[in-house]
Amino acid sequence: MNEIQIVGLKQIPLIKKGDDIAKIILEALKKNNLKLMNGDIFVIAQTIITKSNGRIRNLKEIIPSLRAIELHEKISSKAKNLGVPEKTPELIQLILDESKDILKVEHVLITETKHGFICANAGIDKSNIEGKENVGLLPSNPDEDAKNIRINLKSLTNKDVAIIISDSFGRPFRVGAVGVALGVSGIIPILDKRGKRDLFDYELHSTIIGHVDSLASAAQLVMGEADEGIPIVLIRGYDFELTENTSIKSLLREKKIDLFRVGTSENTKGILKNRRSYKFGFDSKNIDKKIIENCIELARWAPSAHNGQHWRYVILSKGSLRNRLIDKINEKLRFDLEKDGRVESFIRNKINKTRMNFLEAPFLILLCLDSKDLEKYPDEDRSQNEFILGIQSVSCSAIYLLIAFEVEKLAACWYCAPLFTKEIIKEVLKLPESYIPMAFFTVGYPLKPVKAPPRKNLNDIIFKLKE
Ligand SMILES: Cc1cc2nc3c(=O)[nH]c(=O)nc-3n(C[C@H](O)[C@H](O)[C@H](O)COP(=O)(O)O)c2cc1C
Repeated sequence: MNEIQIVGLKQIPLIKKGDDIAKIILEALKKNNLKLMNGDIFVIAQTIITKSNGRIRNLKEIIPSLRAIELHEKISSKAKNLGVPEKTPELIQLILDESKDILKVEHVLITETKHGFICANAGIDKSNIEGKENVGLLPSNPDEDAKNIRINLKSLTNKDVAIIISDSFGRPFRVGAVGVALGVSGIIPILDKRGKRDLFDYELHSTIIGHVDSLASAAQLVMGEADEGIPIVLIRGYDFELTENTSIKSLLREKKIDLFRVGTSENTKGILKNRRSYKFGFDSKNIDKKIIENCIELARWAPSAHNGQHWRYVILSKGSLRNRLIDKINEKLRFDLEKDGRVESFIRNKINKTRMNFLEAPFLILLCLDSKDLEKYPDEDRSQNEFILGIQSVSCSAIYLLIAFEVEKLAACWYCAPLFTKEIIKEVLKLPESYIPMAFFTVGYPLKPVKAPPRKNLNDIIFKLKE
């Protein structure tokens, strides 16, 4: 007979920061007159992992950004219409901090968390958390937490078990939250049945079973949501293969095969408004050159006059060539400033600033206009306009590039220095004769947020026609 037992462990104490969950499981088993057995599965509510990891935040200590305040206004009116509680700007800020994407703005925020879970409000929860202003964040690495508990149980008892860290998520298209797995250890998250045969010997082509979610949901029936106080559930008798090195990631649908995800307008607005010219030091974290190339790949899709695509990019990694180039650029800067009659301290200050900006950025990108792609005209006037079109086209690509960096959470700044040092750049980098250097972009991961400089009012930039 196929029989599975689902046992809620009673008498689990309130969990505090630093508590050892493996020991708490063993104590709870004792209190419940149970012995650990090979093949047991423990489904553990994320709230107690959150508490033991100290992932509790006091909303009073959060400073909301402009974006959080704007979203608050939007969400509040929707919440009022529905008669559901409003979210504070502080809570919205926390949700933004815990998310890598905002998919929908309704009375809740549907977000993609940094782990890749798509859920309401980045999974931030108030229930079962002590303190009026306190909320619990999802554990930052539930797979790692599950693994630590499994390994600790193994070293304390020599038994092989599986761990599932669970939460309950609402679902699109159906009412009611169900249990889901956030992190796993010892059990693979999905059972791939493709290639197996059904009752009628028909080969299965697409059946993949998310059994850890089924197990989390089964455990949810015993855990309850409110005050039942059963955060750990033992599942015994479920037939599965104990497996090392498992991760919940195998259960998350990749963006490229996600049939439902669409680019949201909210997202795009956020990206357009958040992009800033970043002129500070960069994080020392390495950037894969592939990421930079992928951003340039997107910059190819900008519009251009006659679809001329006049842009050419040169990626300058750190190294002697870049150093030599910047030294030469600074020689020219010194020459120009001396000619302007600037004092030595001013000149030094300027030169140090460009050195810092251009040498310390993980990547420096040069954008050129290839004059080969400009149309030829016999008269001066049209040639001049064609050149302007070329500059405008190259600028379109530059904007695409800056937006692509923003999507990758890279910080960048556009610098006009190459315009003043065209010949030097061409000579040092041995560029083709037709290239006209236009701009530098410094790129890297930022160390701090940048405040947006003020913008003109809409009324000041839309010229009103007199009818
Ligand atoms: C064509 C162009 C040239 C720029 N050149 C420089 C520059 O040489 N040095 C600099 O510090 N910032 C430069 N910037 C960045 C602007 O100062 C910045 O975009 C502006 O202050 C608005 O700030 P934001 O980009 O954060 O919205 C340039 C921007 C553009 C579009």
